Amino acid sequence: MRSLLPVFSLFLLDVLNVNALKLPFHVRQRSARLNARATSIPISNTRNSEYISNITLGGREIPVLLDTGSSDLWVTGTVPQTKDLGISASLSYAVGNAAGNINSATLEFDGYTVQDQAYLLVANASGFSINITAQGFEGLIGLGPNTGSVIRDKVNNDSGDSVLDRIFSQNTTSANYLTVLLNREGDPTSPATGQLTISEPVSGYENITSMPKLTVEKVHKLTDADQHWQVLTDTNGVIGPDGQPIEVDSIVPSAPNGQLVVVFDSGFTLPQVPRAMSDAIYGRVQGAEYNEASEVWTIPCDQLLNISFKFGGVDYPIHPLDVSSSDFNMVDSSGNPTCVGTFQPITSAFSLLGEYDIILGMAFMRNVYSLFDYGDFIDNSALDRNDPFVQLLSITDVAQSHSDFVKARLNGVDTTSDTSQDLLPTDQMQHSPISAAEKKKKYEEMILSRWPAIFVGCLIFVLLVIGLIIWRCCVARRRRRAKQAAGHLPTNNTPKTYEQIQESTSQVDLKLMESGKEYEYRSSYASNMHRGRTARVDPTVLLNLLSCQNGPHTQYYSHQVKLA
Ligand SMILES: *[C@@H]1O[C@H](CO)[C@@H](O)[C@H](O)[C@H]1NC(C)=O
Ligand SMILES: *[C@@H]1O[C@H](CO)[C@@H](O)[C@H](O)[C@H]1NC(C)=O
Ligand SMILES: *[C@@H]1O[C@H](CO)[C@@H](O)[C@H](O)[C@H]1NC(C)=O
Ligand SMILES: *[C@@H]1O[C@H](CO)[C@@H](O)[C@H](O)[C@H]1NC(C)=O
Ligand SMILES: *[C@@H]1O[C@H](CO)[C@@H](O)[C@H](O)[C@H]1NC(C)=O
Ligand SMILES: *[C@@H]1O[C@H](CO)[C@@H](O)[C@H](O)[C@H]1NC(C)=O
Ligand SMILES: *[C@@H]1O[C@H](CO)[C@@H](O)[C@H](O)[C@H]1NC(C)=O
Repeated sequence: MRSLLPVFSLFLLDVLNVNALKLPFHVRQRSARLNARATSIPISNTRNSEYISNITLGGREIPVLLDTGSSDLWVTGTVPQTKDLGISASLSYAVGNAAGNINSATLEFDGYTVQDQAYLLVANASGFSINITAQGFEGLIGLGPNTGSVIRDKVNNDSGDSVLDRIFSQNTTSANYLTVLLNREGDPTSPATGQLTISEPVSGYENITSMPKLTVEKVHKLTDADQHWQVLTDTNGVIGPDGQPIEVDSIVPSAPNGQLVVVFDSGFTLPQVPRAMSDAIYGRVQGAEYNEASEVWTIPCDQLLNISFKFGGVDYPIHPLDVSSSDFNMVDSSGNPTCVGTFQPITSAFSLLGEYDIILGMAFMRNVYSLFDYGDFIDNSALDRNDPFVQLLSITDVAQSHSDFVKARLNGVDTTSDTSQDLLPTDQMQHSPISAAEKKKKYEEMILSRWPAIFVGCLIFVLLVIGLIIWRCCVARRRRRAKQAAGHLPTNNTPKTYEQIQESTSQVDLKLMESGKEYEYRSSYASNMHRGRTARVDPTVLLNLLSCQNGPHTQYYSHQVKLA
């Protein structure tokens, strides 16, 4: 059986390895040396799990996996005319690490030539969990935004820029876009081969340029190494097999209500969706089982499921041959052949920084002809470039895909309206179990994605403490001076003011409460021993009260209040 996890989920996983202190630099004009160009290059397809095109590097033709989810170029084996820059680097992917030295060589890709293209030469690819040569490729070309490039970071000058960045920088008058058309194995009406173009549409698909421009969601500046081709779905933009929207909350703090952030990633075989969404797609299918080892749903291969996505007001239906896959030779718990639910619960590629909800891999990308416009991802201060965007042209016709499914899976006999194919009622829906590791990740995500707010909160806290300490010192000094001036101890019969401290911060008023004064302590959090007695309010106590306003911090709370 072939590996089931995102087969070659070449999505940089070390999201926390963020180089926050990247110095800005500008791309200098290079002499443009363009050959006579082919209009498009073919994309080969390895069992619907890898999409591959040829590049020529240092004179050697090398098949590389096309990955819109990362931004670096690496190859294995030998490259005839190459220069070792003596900088080592390691790229982490879901299936292993690519490590070696950064080299530069002349690159040819889709008819464009780039001198001294930086890339990682991986001498030993046996660290991968799959044999990439057997899968039909010997390297990978990252087609994502330049900010995500590890090589660019390491080389630290513009010769380290990613391939597309180099190509677009060479000719500032041509359009900055890449288009990708993928084919589907096992589909009787799919195009024979996929195609890739740069700066022009695939012939016959020119309409792509009039589709809605989906603005790329820019990630926070400090985490721009995690920038991908990501856009928002429409509100209620994922339609399940029952024709109803699947409602799932986004983990991205800035996402508008009801919308989800999706990444388009041609390097991910199985799309990654929130667990509740995967359950909603497959959990009501008769005979569905959740395979915990592989973390996928399996369903009977004859079950036709219709789902669709909505972007920019346009509906993008998914071919039923892409909603479940017969490509993995899976068996169910009774040992019978079964199909894999391709929309897998997101676990390994979970966004710890809360930057996206869904990764739409190949099983989605086969349904659209896609255009990626790099806009101002291409760094050039001389030009006022547009914001990057994505355009999608649906290439799946629902009626045609139905008859393709009947031919491919049902031997030509349409049984899709049999009662055995009916979805179970919602109250009989199965749910997949959440692992402890996943719960932990969710928790970490909750903290990490909100770190700017937490950081600001801490900063305010520290400033308040410092402010109060300074203020207290001033008060003490003034008292001492007053004491010296008066020449006697302060009188004991100053009337005491009692105020009530309550656990809600809204009622703990900093201005009303003064350091050194006594207040009646009546918090319901406090133990009986403390309740009703007076407490001298210490500035730090006040702050502690503030800082624990939202939780049942009984211990913390009552112990911090020093009784007068
Ligand atoms: C890559 O080049 C090899 C050798 O020329 C050729 O056999 C193969 O079909 C090419 N692959 C693609 C996707 O163009
Ligand atoms: C390649 O790396 C593997 C471990 O990742 C090691 O066992 C093997 O000996 C290495 N091969 C070469 C030629 O360096
Ligand atoms: C990987 O596959 C290629 C081609 O099928 C084969 O020649 C090579 O020996 C394999 N490598 C390993 C480490 O199994
Ligand atoms: C960029 O950096 C590399 C490695 O440090 C160096 O070899 C190369 O000459 C530099 N290129 C430019 C244009 O500065
Ligand atoms: C740059 O691109 C434009 C538009 O595609 C083309 O007309 C022009 O010839 C290109 N310039 C060079 C120097 O190749
Ligand atoms: C593509 O554009 C042509 C001409 O503008 C139009 O007739 C056709 O309906 C369009 N097709 C789609 C699928 O939008
Ligand atoms: C799939 O959608 C098409 C078009 O909306 C509809 O005709 C067909 O009945 C649906 N099939 C199933 C099994 O839901």
